[in-house]
Amino acid sequence: MRVDLKALAFAEGGYLLVKRALRQAGPDAAIVVTGTSPALAVDVRAWCRLEGHRFEWHTTTGIHGGRATIINGGADSSRWVGASWVGDDPDSCDSVAEHPPRTWGLAARGATIEAGTPEFDFHIVDKLDVWSDDAAGIYRQAIGAQWNPETAIPWSAAFAIADDIEDAVVQIMTFLIENETAALIVPSRFIAQMHPHFKEVMQVLAVQAADEARHIEVFTRRARLKRNALGLSTASGQASLKTLIDEPEFAIASFLLSVLGEGTFLSLLWFIERYAPDPVTAAVARLAAQDEARHVAFGLAHLGQHLTREPDFRPRLADAIRRRHDALRHTAGLNAEVFDALLLMAAGSWEHDALRGGYGRLHQLMRDMDDGRRKRLVRLGFPESEAAELSALHARNLM
Ligand SMILES: [Fe+2]
Ligand SMILES: [Fe+2]
Repeated sequence: MRVDLKALAFAEGGYLLVKRALRQAGPDAAIVVTGTSPALAVDVRAWCRLEGHRFEWHTTTGIHGGRATIINGGADSSRWVGASWVGDDPDSCDSVAEHPPRTWGLAARGATIEAGTPEFDFHIVDKLDVWSDDAAGIYRQAIGAQWNPETAIPWSAAFAIADDIEDAVVQIMTFLIENETAALIVPSRFIAQMHPHFKEVMQVLAVQAADEARHIEVFTRRARLKRNALGLSTASGQASLKTLIDEPEFAIASFLLSVLGEGTFLSLLWFIERYAPDPVTAAVARLAAQDEARHVAFGLAHLGQHLTREPDFRPRLADAIRRRHDALRHTAGLNAEVFDALLLMAAGSWEHDALRGGYGRLHQLMRDMDDGRRKRLVRLGFPESEAAELSALHARNLM
């Protein structure tokens, strides 16, 4: 085989033609390279030494360049001996392995991976624990539904609001912000522990974390619209959220946070949207609720798939609710200020009839939250009676 580089310098792309010719020729085969570039002899000699090819140079007198014979040393092909395919099925980049080896590391599914890649310290390496076939669809939907806080919310809308009602809104926002912070930390922590072979799940959790970042932003902006200080944060509220952050197992954390906590928050956010005293509060609650619906959907999707394959996992989920309830038994539950703020907001004024109406709406909210939790538990295969018992044990902090 002959490669004529003519005036093309070896470094400016000539080497690529030589490399291709050697690959085509195969190990131990010889090729002849000619060219008129002045540095050709020096460049080819250095490159051959580096790549492990044998090399012989023939000078042509009177002109620049010359002719080289190169014998393929075979290092390039032997480098890929022992390489493996990243995935279960060599015909499909979409095949997800049940137990991807840690040595696949960061390599994309469908890539060929060189032997000797270092082992990464991923903790979550079992497909059963995280996977949902719906993840790719939920990710695409989430990306399409991203909204810009700057333009999606009528920040400069004029509204008149009584001082006490504004204080109530600020207290509710303060409560939401700390809950959103827990909802950001939990998925973020698991992203870092998960084998990236489960790419779609990693992507869903990343968008989920971005959603929560945005919720923190808009609730903070609403709280500070007319006030400099935020409301109260209680020890019991933080103790409740800490149990979510401390939960080491993905499936259990996801069950407690997404199915039960965010599920309960869906009702809360729609309640805030409905009884908001101003258009900004209504908008931030509505937009956050739409995002939360996806977070709940993913939790239900992967836990549903997990339970179909491993029904024995169901009692462990039930135990997690009971354990969390026991751990929080001696705490005060929902911040009284949050309850009072929700009541006053739903009442709209201090009039007796208004307060009675607000109280009735708040109790309807508690029933709606309970109904929602029970429905989701039944969807995951819990019998009605156990679903009712477990729903009643859900954290009084709501998340
Ligand atoms: Fe959120
Ligand atoms: Fe969320």
